Amino acid sequence: MVKASAPGKCILFGEHAVVYGQPALACSINQRMTIEVEKEETFDKWRLDGRTFNPRKHPHIDYIRQQLPALDGQPLHIRVRGSIPKSSGLGSSAALSVALCGALQQLRGEDIDLMQASRLSHQAEAQAQAGRASPMDTATSSFGGFVVLSDTIEEDLDFIETRTMDVDGTSYQWHLHTFDADIPQGVALVVGNTGVHGSTSAMVKQVANLIEQHPERRVELETIGAIARRGIQAFREGNMEAVGQAMTENHIVLRSLGVSSPELEQLIRAAAPSSLGVKMTGAGGGGCMIALTTSPEQTVGDIEMAGGRAFITRFNEPGLGIEHIM
Ligand code: PMV
Repeated sequence: MVKASAPGKCILFGEHAVVYGQPALACSINQRMTIEVEKEETFDKWRLDGRTFNPRKHPHIDYIRQQLPALDGQPLHIRVRGSIPKSSGLGSSAALSVALCGALQQLRGEDIDLMQASRLSHQAEAQAQAGRASPMDTATSSFGGFVVLSDTIEEDLDFIETRTMDVDGTSYQWHLHTFDADIPQGVALVVGNTGVHGSTSAMVKQVANLIEQHPERRVELETIGAIARRGIQAFREGNMEAVGQAMTENHIVLRSLGVSSPELEQLIRAAAPSSLGVKMTGAGGGGCMIALTTSPEQTVGDIEMAGGRAFITRFNEPGLGIEHIM
């Protein structure tokens, strides 16, 4: 049996706009998905958590198993464990895909290949989102820590690679980077979950329809890009007040794009007084918000009083890793 795990992520700046090539910053969180894979000895079919695997229900898994088949062609039994809530903007499906790549690489006797895991999982996400997927979730889950997507190669960040993809007939390019962030003592990130599921593909499609019908609203995506650029710079300078300010501004534009929800707004209102900055994170329509704060316990309490579930996440959580080999 082989076992691998990968973290979820939250987006500090740039969701939605990043699909159209704007810059963004994401970081891994301390909730992970774990995948165990073993050879299926009893049945001649693949199984998922004890049941016959249905490729139509799990297109991500199907794509990856076809790209990384077991060397002897024997069917496999995949078990999924994890603490990342589904459809909550925390990248649970990306983490699942990345962890599965890691497990299958091991089973094939290969070394863990983060670049391959990040690429294959991005392709799998793109298929599930009608081709509209940035490489952000999957890169953050693969490499861990902080990932910056930019429209140029940033000389003072650690460059990973350049990714190109066609979105609705236009070719977009993302330059992927990581960097070691120096977070000032006492600053924490709190994640608040509305408990309402949001569909990434539906929210991404909603934005695509909006800009197709109102091309002038592309300016909002460019505004998010400009805020993200400023926020990333402030983050790297350790100016957390400016980071928080930029997060809140980013949220206002996301709200005007129509991807927030009443439940998200309620948690954001509750967390704002004790925070440096607050915003929704991920695709929206429900799901999670994040707060950058110097009083995390207070912020957690304020979110929970407003009906959400909240936790404090660690920064610099490691990416794809092998759990153990038996
Ligand atoms: O909600 P999540 O975790 O699937 O994040 C989606 C982020 C988007 O920018 C909306 C889409 C993407 O592919 O980057």
